[in-house]
Amino acid sequence: MISVVILGTGNLAQHLCQTFSKTDSIQLIQVYGRNQGNLQWFSSYTKLCSEPKDIANADVYLIAVSDQAIEKVSGHLLDKKGIVAHTSGATPMNVLSAENRGVFYPLQTFTKGKSVDFDSIPICLEAQNEEGLEVLQDLAQAISSNVYLINTEQRRQLHLAAVFTNNFTNYLYGIGEAICKRNKISFDLLKPLIQETSNKIMSLQPKEAQTGPARRGDEKSMNQHLSLMSDHTEQEIYRLLSEAIKTEYEKEL
Ligand SMILES: NC(=O)c1ccc[n+]([C@@H]2O[C@H](COP(=O)([O-])OP(=O)(O)OC[C@H]3O[C@@H](n4cnc5c(N)ncnc54)[C@H](OP(=O)(O)O)[C@@H]3O)[C@@H](O)[C@H]2O)c1
Repeated sequence: MISVVILGTGNLAQHLCQTFSKTDSIQLIQVYGRNQGNLQWFSSYTKLCSEPKDIANADVYLIAVSDQAIEKVSGHLLDKKGIVAHTSGATPMNVLSAENRGVFYPLQTFTKGKSVDFDSIPICLEAQNEEGLEVLQDLAQAISSNVYLINTEQRRQLHLAAVFTNNFTNYLYGIGEAICKRNKISFDLLKPLIQETSNKIMSLQPKEAQTGPARRGDEKSMNQHLSLMSDHTEQEIYRLLSEAIKTEYEKEL
């Protein structure tokens, strides 16, 4: 049995709490949060703690707070023997002051209330020492079939790739939704296209899967699209992405 304390009460903390609570080999013994209101959500799962001095002893401390707060919150755990790991893609392991430190980075997008299947989520691990790594491996393998050893530099690059493939793509969905809304069209019409776009790259390389006016070098359609937008940011994004796609494919035209 691995005992765990989660520090943080946000999106990831909620998902980890739910997953750990239904995993026999993991005992979630406490959740620490600075805000009593946000802590209450966890009360049906485990014990709560809002004072750093009351943080319980555990095998693993998972710091799931905002990236900027990781270093400060890790300062509450200096006297602990268990491994202290943060959960961030963009943060080096060495911001943690504990000697027994590591990283437990689940590569997925987590939003409160939107359930995910942890078993398929890649969990990227790093640890300062072999013993700590073994504990993190046991913890990760108890909830996921996709566990990887990824060092700080690789994780930084992976996080950058994730920002392009998830965060920027989602922002573009938002532009699509806004265009639909302005023209009284249901965004639902685009959902099968969104689904197929992500399905396609399971069997094709992104380069093969690309379609659209910029890939075809269709200047007439691109100019028409630009004239349909009055929002400067949308126009700039359209121009920049179209240019990048055109440059990539024009040798083939
Ligand atoms: N969400 C994702 O998709 C995702 C995916 C992979 C990894 N991660 C990583 O998981 C971590 C948490 O992300 P999240 O999305 O769960 O964030 P979040 O929903 O914004 O929650 C942030 C949490 O940090 C707490 N916090 C902030 N400053 C604090 C401080 N000084 N002391 C104590 N607690 C503090 C907040 O407490 P209050 O409620 O009191 O403000 C809140 O509980 C981050 O390192 C992030 O990089 C997130």
